[in-house]
Amino acid sequence: MFLKVDELTKKFDKHTVLDRLSFTVEQGELLCVLGPSGCGKSTLLRCLNGFEALDHGQIFLEERNITEELPEERNVTTVFQNYSLFPHMDVLHNVMYGLKFQKIAKKEAAKRSEEMLELLQLKGYGAKRIMELSGGEQQRVALGRSLIVNPKLLLLDEPLSNLDEKLRVTLREELRTILKRLDMTGIFVTHDQKEAFAIGDKILLLNQGKIQQFSDGITLYEHPQNQFVLDFIGEKNQLSPAEYVRPERVILEKNAQGDGKVEKVVFQGETWEYYIRTKDYYWRALALNRSREAGYQVGDRVKLTVQMQELISSKEEK
Ligand SMILES: Nc1ncnc2c1ncn2[C@@H]1O[C@H](COP(=O)(O)OP(=O)(O)O)[C@@H](O)[C@H]1O
Ligand SMILES: [Mg+2]
Repeated sequence: MFLKVDELTKKFDKHTVLDRLSFTVEQGELLCVLGPSGCGKSTLLRCLNGFEALDHGQIFLEERNITEELPEERNVTTVFQNYSLFPHMDVLHNVMYGLKFQKIAKKEAAKRSEEMLELLQLKGYGAKRIMELSGGEQQRVALGRSLIVNPKLLLLDEPLSNLDEKLRVTLREELRTILKRLDMTGIFVTHDQKEAFAIGDKILLLNQGKIQQFSDGITLYEHPQNQFVLDFIGEKNQLSPAEYVRPERVILEKNAQGDGKVEKVVFQGETWEYYIRTKDYYWRALALNRSREAGYQVGDRVKLTVQMQELISSKEEK
């Protein structure tokens, strides 16, 4: 096992912020830590990079127990949301800075930094000043500075959160491609589930310092383990504690004898949202916008065909 975290527990005063977290990450794997604001994501990274001491538990990196090691002994680097670049240095020297504490000749360090800039599609940017760069470019420089030391483990704390939506989507694809090319093992923190789905080989969903689910993204969406996961991930029609249907799996059909009546139609660009009243439930249905106009109008009678899913935890309780 490349990274093994065993019963990691962190308290601030009497408040337990991380409660006996156990999980593993394979070499070359990207783990996304997902969860609402304040659930302990950044604290988890700070425990892994050594900025915070644990109250209980252990961390093993390639079988080595690093729990008590200093940050600089761990071979773990971190990329932050606010980049923390040096504005008075040019791009090349920001990237090179990562090598400052390794005994590497300046010429060699510059050469490696140029190669890193190329990998990050920043070739020719070496002499530019940080302030001349866009947010996306700055984040790539920050990534370069962390990657240049060839860490065993790369931690990223909401690195794309300061960027606008379009750029976030482009950069997350680039980021995944680069990290996979380097066979880098990484832990990426986000509060955005789409980002977690797109980047993570696995997702660790946290709430109030506890692991709610640890699985790949598809399993997280298709088999939520408890009510918190179901509430947090995606949308649902929940008919009972044990049964739910995703809105995109409510299939409508115009039918004068149907038991549903369309009460509201909402335009969402690529999708249409329909709210439908039946005898027992007020449904939300989602359909791709394929024909420029809504398939159903307020007042239409429709027949509903639904793909019911079962919530795992409620099954276990029975
Ligand atoms: N240095 C600290 N001292 C006291 N409480 C802290 C400290 N750092 C974080 N916390 C608390 O720990 C909890 C988790 O914080 P954090 O890990 O930053 O969450 P997230 O990154 O998921 O938003 C919050 O309740 C926060 O207020
Ligand atoms: Mg945070």
